Amino acid sequence: MKCLLGLAFTMTLGATGLALAQDADVDAGKAYATEICAECHAIRPNEGNSPLLDAPSFQSVADMPGMTDLALSVWLQTSHPTMPNIILEQDDMRNVIAYIRSLQGKG
Ligand code: HEC
Repeated sequence: MKCLLGLAFTMTLGATGLALAQDADVDAGKAYATEICAECHAIRPNEGNSPLLDAPSFQSVADMPGMTDLALSVWLQTSHPTMPNIILEQDDMRNVIAYIRSLQGKG
């Protein structure tokens, strides 16, 4: 029984990862980031400092060692201390994550 539960949990996680990778639209994510996130974050490849100095550039987020879709989605669903009012829809979140990940290695 314990074993079955573990299996179900693994499969659920696996399915989430798949959904994140599959339906994401990088261009839509970029448009969303330009509209919502660019106020504080440098969102373009190799842009340098963010408008809000405390906010990491998306390039540096993308290049953080060990950064994964899952880590990003957890971050975006939890602590964003300076922007408590931003609640991303699932689709927007997926797209923005895909956009951030697309920056990896471009800095
Ligand atoms: C009002 C300003 C503001 C806006 C708008 C904003 N952010 Fe942030 N963001 C910050 C600040 C400040 C930090 C650094 C906070 C910290 O390190 O505790 C941050 C940190 C992050 C991180 C850091 C991850 C890490 O592990 O260090 C990610 C990812 C991120 N923001 C994504 C986004 C996305 C995606 C959007 C648009 C939907 C967005 N932010 C909009 C201010 C903002």
